[in-house]
Amino acid sequence: MKKIDKNEKKAVFVPLLLKWNREKNNRKMPWKGEKDSYKIWLSEIILQQTRVEQGLSYYNNFIKTFPDVHKLAKANDAKVFKLWEGLGYYSRCRNLLATARIISKERKGKFPDTYEEILQLKGIGPYTAAAISSFAFDLPYAVVDGNVFRVLARVFGITTPTDTTVGKKKFTTLAEELLDKQQPGLYNQAIMDFGATVCKPAVPLCSDCVFKKVCVAFNKEMIATLPVKEKKISIKRRWFYYMVMEYKNEVAILQRTGKDIWKDLFEFPLIEVEKEINDKEFLKQMRLRKWIKDGDFEIEEFSPLFKQQLSHQLISGRFIKIKLKHKPIVIKEWNWQKKEKLKNYAFPQFINQYLKGK
Ligand code: ADE
Repeated sequence: MKKIDKNEKKAVFVPLLLKWNREKNNRKMPWKGEKDSYKIWLSEIILQQTRVEQGLSYYNNFIKTFPDVHKLAKANDAKVFKLWEGLGYYSRCRNLLATARIISKERKGKFPDTYEEILQLKGIGPYTAAAISSFAFDLPYAVVDGNVFRVLARVFGITTPTDTTVGKKKFTTLAEELLDKQQPGLYNQAIMDFGATVCKPAVPLCSDCVFKKVCVAFNKEMIATLPVKEKKISIKRRWFYYMVMEYKNEVAILQRTGKDIWKDLFEFPLIEVEKEINDKEFLKQMRLRKWIKDGDFEIEEFSPLFKQQLSHQLISGRFIKIKLKHKPIVIKEWNWQKKEKLKNYAFPQFINQYLKGK
């Protein structure tokens, strides 16, 4: 590695990044160069949730359905949830709608144009506020997301964990020092694209990288160890057994409420248990609940195992198809819907996987 001190490295970092951006960055995205703050905001909220490749179709659908903030503000919640379906973290979708309504009504559609005001909006943290401020209004705020942590940790050889207060401060300070204040939007977009396409998490393209001579991780064989994270997240396992009850052509669904995952999404009546159970144990659990009378139903199918990995939970379980002879009326939350109407409701991916095979 060329001997180079930290200040010299800071001085060459931006020119090298922008050179890569000019000559090699061929990532095309519809919101690139966009100046409409509504579209930028929408793209950033979607991209908090997913990678660019998957986010594209969501972005295009949203823009087509709601071309401006007033249209989104006026939409009914269910329609917006349906468009969001598959992205997960529905609280972000609720925040999106709440913010659209505030901007539409209280600000007559005008998006705030200072970092502090943008940061006040529901669902917007420092990362998204910096992205919107720089892309839409050319304000000098550096984005610090997973891509930026990775690029800076590797090029500068920073071993401080990114998920600690000290680490966050250290990376943010460096990112702010590096930021090209003349063209913050261009710089922010370049470092994110670089992190996503060259300095990738698992197999970075080091042999062809502009930072090859100065990158600590490359020269000291630390690519696999940087960036460092302190906490290992613990994954909670949960077991969901769904009762897919059919009476004539109707199925019972209900909306999830409370503080748990998938709030506001729809599901079938659920039996959640502590561990995996077989069909006999399931029947026992069902009887305990007394939702349907013995003799009023027939079990048609005990599905194969389905799984969905969330950030902190692994959901596993099955779908039990039950034919009913009488419609149970005891549970008022059960909403009986014709099977062909199910497509109008937003379900978690766990349930969509099952419905897709039907
Ligand atoms: N991730 C979040 N925002 C992004 C953007 N504007 N470009 C690429 N990746 C992103």
